[in-house]
Amino acid sequence: MTDSNPHITLSSIVCIASNNAIGKDNAMIWHIPEDLKHFKRTTLGKPILMGRKSYEALGKSLPGRANIVISRSYDALPEGEATQVFKHMEAEGVSVTEGTSTHKVQSINDAIRLAKAIAKSDEKDEIFITGGGQIYAETLAITERLYLTIIDRDYEGDTFFPEINWDEWNVTEKRKHPAEPEKDRPSCTFFTLERITK
Ligand SMILES: NC(=O)c1ccc[n+]([C@@H]2O[C@H](COP(=O)([O-])OP(=O)(O)OC[C@H]3O[C@@H](n4cnc5c(N)ncnc54)[C@H](OP(=O)(O)O)[C@@H]3O)[C@@H](O)[C@H]2O)c1
Repeated sequence: MTDSNPHITLSSIVCIASNNAIGKDNAMIWHIPEDLKHFKRTTLGKPILMGRKSYEALGKSLPGRANIVISRSYDALPEGEATQVFKHMEAEGVSVTEGTSTHKVQSINDAIRLAKAIAKSDEKDEIFITGGGQIYAETLAITERLYLTIIDRDYEGDTFFPEINWDEWNVTEKRKHPAEPEKDRPSCTFFTLERITK
């Protein structure tokens, strides 16, 4: 008998500087193609949930994924112009046109409910919080898996990821990516963390 109600994991994916900065002036602070590839590989085909500001930082929906945008007040969700952030993200890896959708919801709970319903109908086992600072902070306590890239440099920012209590997590993957000094790109480490359940 197949399980009609399989568990769908609530994951977060984020790239942080060593001082926890994640953004400035509603944009990314760095350009690290290896991390964008990692983001694309990890999230493609699965629903992604983001705050209204992060959606505006992209300008339009990321292809090949259900984009669920959380806002208390946003009535219309027009497809805007692709921003530089969007162009950087789409430059990495395969291009995808199928499976793109955009949804607007007014609470995090509604976003999670909708994302799980989409994942279930697409037979996926995971949904992703993709930022930004407010949404990460409001969902970290219920996040079951964290895909965390730590860049080995401090950056000046105006948006930060909350402090991570490493005692709450098992590190199940760790991969170091070397610096690229000729491009002024610092080294970084890709971690996958699974919440320790008691
Ligand atoms: N480094 C990374 O991996 C990464 C990833 C993503 C984003 N970022 C960066 O993060 C920054 C944006 O983050 P941010 O904290 O300013 O904004 P955000 O979290 O993307 O969006 C905040 C907005 O989400 C809505 N919201 C938040 N909590 C809500 C709730 N409980 N219920 C309903 N709506 C809610 C509100 O929209 P309304 O005001 O419309 O009600 C709020 O203004 C940018 O700099 C971006 O580049 C970095």
